Amino acid sequence: SDMFTFDPGFMSTAACESAITYIDGDKGELLYRGYPIEQLAVNCDYLEVCYLLLNGELPNAQQKAEFEYSINHHNLVHEQMHFFLRGFRRDAHPMAILTGLVGAMSAFYHDSTDISNPHHREISAIRLIAKMPTLVAMAYKYSCGEPYVYPRNGLSYSGNFLRQMFATPCEDYQVNEVVERAFDRILTLHADHEQNASTSTVRLCGSSGTNPFAAIAAGVACLWGPAHGGANEACLNMLENIQANGGIAKVGEFMEKVKDKNSGVRLMGFGHRVYKNYDPRAKLMQETCKEVLTALGLENDPLFKLAMELERIALEDQYFVDRKLYPNVDFYSGIVQRAIGIPTQLFTAIFALARTVGWIAQWNEMLSDANYKIGRPRQLYVGSARRDVPSLDKR
Ligand code: CMC
Repeated sequence: SDMFTFDPGFMSTAACESAITYIDGDKGELLYRGYPIEQLAVNCDYLEVCYLLLNGELPNAQQKAEFEYSINHHNLVHEQMHFFLRGFRRDAHPMAILTGLVGAMSAFYHDSTDISNPHHREISAIRLIAKMPTLVAMAYKYSCGEPYVYPRNGLSYSGNFLRQMFATPCEDYQVNEVVERAFDRILTLHADHEQNASTSTVRLCGSSGTNPFAAIAAGVACLWGPAHGGANEACLNMLENIQANGGIAKVGEFMEKVKDKNSGVRLMGFGHRVYKNYDPRAKLMQETCKEVLTALGLENDPLFKLAMELERIALEDQYFVDRKLYPNVDFYSGIVQRAIGIPTQLFTAIFALARTVGWIAQWNEMLSDANYKIGRPRQLYVGSARRDVPSLDKR
C-alpha cells in the first residue's frame, strides 16, 4: 500500500495543470500565455505582461489604462510599515527584510483575504504588484540611511521604481529612457517561469488556504537561495572575484576549478533544470546589457568582457557541452543592474519584485480550480523500525 513514485527534486513529476507559462527546454523556448518572450520583451511593457499573466490575454488600450490606474492607486504602503521596517538592523540582507515586510502585509491588509472570492484575490494581486517596488526601494533607502521616496504617479512602473531608488531630498532622479526600458525588460524576463522552486513553494503554501501575503512571503524566502534567485548576486560576486584576482588572464584557471567536482565551485549563472539549450532570457539579457552599457558610456566594462569570455570558453568546453550547460537569465542581468547603479545585494529582491506577478497568477490559477487539493507529498520512509522507548538510565 505504501507504493509511491519516488522523485526527489521533482525531476519528472507534474504537480499541477497550468495555462500560464510554457517552456521547451530542449529548444530554449519560453511562452507566456502562448506569446514568445522575445516578442513580449520588445512590444510590451511590464504591466501589460502582468495583465497578460493574470488574465490570460493582453490588455486593450482601455484595459491597460485601467490596470495602470489601479496599480498607481495601490502603490503606497501604510505608514506603520515604516515602523516595522525600522526594527531591522540596517545592514540586514534585503531579502531578509523583504520576507518580513511581505509577510507583514498580511497583518496590514486583511480586509480582502477571503480567498474563495475572486474579487478579493484580484485586490490582493494588485496590492502585491503595486506595493512590491515601494517595499524594495524602502529597504534600499533604509540601508543607505536615506529617507524613503514616495511613489509618483504619472511615471511608468519601472521609472517610478528607479526614482524611488535613486531620488534624494536634494536631487530628483531623471529617468534615462534606455535604462528605464532595460529595467522594465529585466522585470518582464523574470515575471514567470512555471513551476520553479519558489512558485511551487507559493502553490504548496497557498494550497492550505493561507493568507495570500503569507504565501508570497514563502516564495520570497525560497527565491533567496543561490541555486535559485540568489544566483544573480552570486554571479556578480563571482565575476568581481575573478576580476580582482587577475581578470581575463585567470579565466582558464577558474574554469579548471569549476570542472573539479571537489572544489565546490560552480559557474554561477550557468545551467538550468529545464533548459538544456540557450536560455532565451539570457540572450535578451545579453542584448540589453550591450544597449545599457553603450547608453551609459560603459562599453569597456571589464565584467561584461569577462562574462563574454567565460561564456565563449564554456560553450566550447566538453564539460559544459556534455552536461548541456548554457548561460541562464542571471548570467547577464547582474551586469545590467550594476551599470544602472543597483547594489549587488539588492539583485535578488528585484527578482522577487518581478516574480511577484508570476507567483500570484499561479496562486490564483490554483484557487480558481474548484478541484484543487492541499499539497501533500508522500515519502519513502528509511528510518528505524518500530522500537520501545528505553528509560533514561538505559540510554
Ligand atoms: N557549474 C558547473 N557545473 C554545473 C553547473 C554549473 N553552474 N550546473 C550544473 N553543473 C553540473 C553538475 O555538477 C552536474 O554534473 P554531474 O552530472 O557530473 O554530477 C550536472 O551539471 C547536472 O547538474 P545538477 O546540479 O544535477 O542539475 P540541477 O538541474 O539539479 O541544477 C541548477 C540546476 C540551476 C541548480 C544548476 O545548474 C546550478 O547550480 N547552476 C548555478 C546556479 C544558477 O545559476 N542558478 C540560477 C538558475 S536560473 C534562475 C533561477 O531559477 O532563479
